[in-house]
Amino acid sequence: MSCCHNYYVATEGNESVFSVDIASISFGHGVLKEAGEHAKALGMSRVALFTDKRLAALPYVAQLRDSLRAAGMDVVIYDEVKVEPTDQSFIAAAKFAAEGKFDGYVSLGGGSVIDTCKAANLYATWPADFLDYVNAPIGAGKPVPGALKPHIACPTTCGTGSECTGITIFDLLALQVKTGIASKRLKPSMALIDPATTYTLPKNVVAASGFDVLSHALESYTARPYTRRAAPGKPALRPMSQGANPWSDIGCEAALKRLGLYLERAVNDASDHEARDQMMYAATLAGIAFGNSGVHVPHGMAYSVAGLVRDFRPEGYPQDEPMVPHGMSVIVNAPAVFRFTASACPERHIHGAACLGAEISGATDDDAAEIIAAQLIKMMQATGIPNGVAGVGYGEADVAGLTKGAWAQQRLLTNAPRDISQSDLSQLYRGAMRYW
Ligand SMILES: [Fe+2]
Repeated sequence: MSCCHNYYVATEGNESVFSVDIASISFGHGVLKEAGEHAKALGMSRVALFTDKRLAALPYVAQLRDSLRAAGMDVVIYDEVKVEPTDQSFIAAAKFAAEGKFDGYVSLGGGSVIDTCKAANLYATWPADFLDYVNAPIGAGKPVPGALKPHIACPTTCGTGSECTGITIFDLLALQVKTGIASKRLKPSMALIDPATTYTLPKNVVAASGFDVLSHALESYTARPYTRRAAPGKPALRPMSQGANPWSDIGCEAALKRLGLYLERAVNDASDHEARDQMMYAATLAGIAFGNSGVHVPHGMAYSVAGLVRDFRPEGYPQDEPMVPHGMSVIVNAPAVFRFTASACPERHIHGAACLGAEISGATDDDAAEIIAAQLIKMMQATGIPNGVAGVGYGEADVAGLTKGAWAQQRLLTNAPRDISQSDLSQLYRGAMRYW
């Protein structure tokens, strides 16, 4: 096996610097009770508390509200967040935020809630046409003009890592595609992470969000090295998705090791609190890592897998509309993608598989593709994940549409360790149809 350390070889004219942008995090049981003190320190006095209807009925919202009120805040709860948000649900949330004249935000929920709160804060603070800040080429990709109001994010799924990133994702209904807004300005001021909030999550939600974490870590670890990007003209032009770098590697490896040990346990036994605590910590580690490196093709392909959904309704999620949960829409692509990318950095694919628990003794670079794919497939089967892209309702006739949506995600595709063409992308969807 070749050596991992050659991944960051300097080349003339290319990037020689990586930046570390890290969220302020407090992690542990009971941490939500500290929200009021933190909000006060951030200068908040009138707070919008974002959550969803399911969570609003659980004790954590009350814990947060009581802590904020005890610190002298005015608190208004917004529980209209849509699971898998859309441009319309973002616009509705932004209207609420603008009318409420808040000077601070607190979000409690999964990625959908935290992302909605980021968007509401953005459009209420810096009003603009909705597509202005949306990633190009779908939107205008305009920079956010200045700082947002302070935002304390409190994640309740061991998944998205949204509390640590400057990214918000939504479905653009008119184009039937998922896209997002990416700016360092969107990153929450701080995250309060209580792993006990995951104890009541249904099995399927833990599986989907756990594989989202897994893919964040593995995609970041195998992303194009930052040293292969052209040097920016000035530091402000260095992208957030700067590629794999030595800092991100630390969080990726630590997260992958925890996922190997605890993902199956956390999914299959809700009473295994040690496993669920460790999953939450893995999500935090992977969030810190991918916020500084960026993900690539499995996430790029996921946008159309989720956006073009027809009739898939997974257990454990709201049943009123069909949906492919984000983590599922990512991981169904992953074995096919990592088979494709393995030749670009085989040692990273083998080491990633080893962190997840695969046996790698005697493995050579030629084995990398199958070792990583087999390990992912084994874990998907053990946790009830659908069998590939066909398992969430697609077939050969959908490949052209799926490819078109994913091809628009150039920010992600160019972060892959190999160049990828539109026909490669179609082949990847075909390879991802069924795994067993
Ligand atoms: Fe993700």
